[in-house]
Amino acid sequence: MAGACSLSPLLVMLLAVVSASLPVTVIRLNKAALNYVSDIGKAPLQRALQVTVSDFLDRSGEVLQSTRVQILGVHLPRLHLKFIAGLGVHLTVAVNFMVKVFRVPEPMELVLPVALLADVHVARDSIGTLVLSISTCSSLFSPAGMPDGSNSTSQELLDLVQEHIKVDLSNKLCLQLSGLVQDLNVHLGTLIGLSPVGPESQIRYSVISTPTITNDYMSMDVRAILFLLGKPILLPLHGSHPFVLPWTLGDEGAMITVGLSQNLFDCALLMLQKAGSLNLEITGQLNSKNNPLNTSTLGQLIPEVAHQFPEPMPVVLKVQLSATPVATLHTNNSTLQLRPFIEVLTASPNSALQLLFSLDVMVNLNLQLSVSRAKLRGTTSMLGGVQLSVATSNVGSIDMAQVHTLISTVFQKPLLDHFNALLGMGIALPSVLNLHYVHSKVTVCEGYVVIFSELAYQR
Ligand SMILES: *[C@@H]1O[C@H](CO)[C@@H](O)[C@H](O)[C@H]1NC(C)=O
Ligand SMILES: *[C@@H]1O[C@H](CO)[C@@H](O)[C@H](O)[C@H]1NC(C)=O
Ligand SMILES: *[C@@H]1O[C@H](CO)[C@@H](O)[C@H](O)[C@H]1NC(C)=O
Ligand SMILES: *[C@@H]1O[C@H](CO)[C@@H](O)[C@H](O)[C@H]1NC(C)=O
Repeated sequence: MAGACSLSPLLVMLLAVVSASLPVTVIRLNKAALNYVSDIGKAPLQRALQVTVSDFLDRSGEVLQSTRVQILGVHLPRLHLKFIAGLGVHLTVAVNFMVKVFRVPEPMELVLPVALLADVHVARDSIGTLVLSISTCSSLFSPAGMPDGSNSTSQELLDLVQEHIKVDLSNKLCLQLSGLVQDLNVHLGTLIGLSPVGPESQIRYSVISTPTITNDYMSMDVRAILFLLGKPILLPLHGSHPFVLPWTLGDEGAMITVGLSQNLFDCALLMLQKAGSLNLEITGQLNSKNNPLNTSTLGQLIPEVAHQFPEPMPVVLKVQLSATPVATLHTNNSTLQLRPFIEVLTASPNSALQLLFSLDVMVNLNLQLSVSRAKLRGTTSMLGGVQLSVATSNVGSIDMAQVHTLISTVFQKPLLDHFNALLGMGIALPSVLNLHYVHSKVTVCEGYVVIFSELAYQR
């Protein structure tokens, strides 16, 4: 997408003033999202509008007669939603009620067209979810018709029945709509639920700003908090500034635009590192044709190893990431820099591990980001070579030129496999229950990541 990362400086300035706190993600719902809600909202609205009508008191005959009136079916030829700047969403529904009047001697069926209009106010509540409320609601009744165009009913009776239904329904329809909005609020509340990241870690999102609503989109700042063993992962604040998602070109067609700041990546990496998930052990096996991690192979490169271990022994690499990996986000290019510390050990005759030497390592990885279900996932590949230097040695001086190839060869694949397994598990994106991201596109910009996506509601 050309220019996907471009920004309007004026807009950035305006938005920067608005967001005083430190959001980690920005969510923008575009018109396409409202169209989708219109599509999937028809069926529940149709069900909600299937109300009961009280009996009609027929005074047209000689005796007062109570006549049952029943809604046989509800059809929604049209449900339209649009943003109202500064307020929320306007709803227009065209409804046709199929009504049966159990009149004696013969029942009568009629079609009653109603337009239901409502303004739905969108706000944020104190616990950080969105709350919808109906600020205005009205129903406009059009003259009823006969489904088969028959003429058997007197106009006078038709008018009376219609007036009865109108009085009976006008409040009920808005009440039903309000009930549906309450259900939706409960559903929206699932945004702040904890989503697992790893076995002992979770992420929670909450809305921290009043949504900004224009005629084209609704945007809100959403804070992400990562927890490890129930404790929040906090980054030092120095140098960080409020994250603002610039208005990008080409995202009007996507239902949702999600901006993820560098902060989120830093927090996620810090959490993985604190959890110890990034550390790994690479173990050699004796008599293995393809695992050169044994003292006879090392002994050919380091004479002291051959001297100390005349009998072949398996060698273990303990890889620890004591420094947090650094993610760098540049336009079309995301990378990870790792500084692992490797201990090269061997099992001594009494089977305790014995340190041969240790290495300071630097590795750069390419990071490819993708979205599946509602998770952002990563895969890595090597970017350039592995840089090694000796930290400590119990086997005398080491010629790095000799050892480099061996160590980097045995180290690269397990490291990539380990990182790909970890990052492949992914991190939950902001969502509500049963709502998935589909056909997502991830764009890496200078200092942040943008996801353009469609949404799919699947139970
Ligand atoms: C980023 O990639 C997109 C296409 O994927 C391209 O249009 C754009 O020019 C690239 N930007 C830079 C700065 O390389
Ligand atoms: C229905 O009634 C109208 C007048 O009320 C009349 O003009 C028309 O011919 C009638 N149609 C039928 C099919 O009886
Ligand atoms: C040590 O590793 C090499 C290379 O994989 C292998 O050829 C050799 O058999 C191993 N030595 C022992 C004693 O397992
Ligand atoms: C991405 O950036 C790194 C430096 O940060 C650079 O070495 C690498 O070549 C870049 N990759 C691409 C595809 O531009």
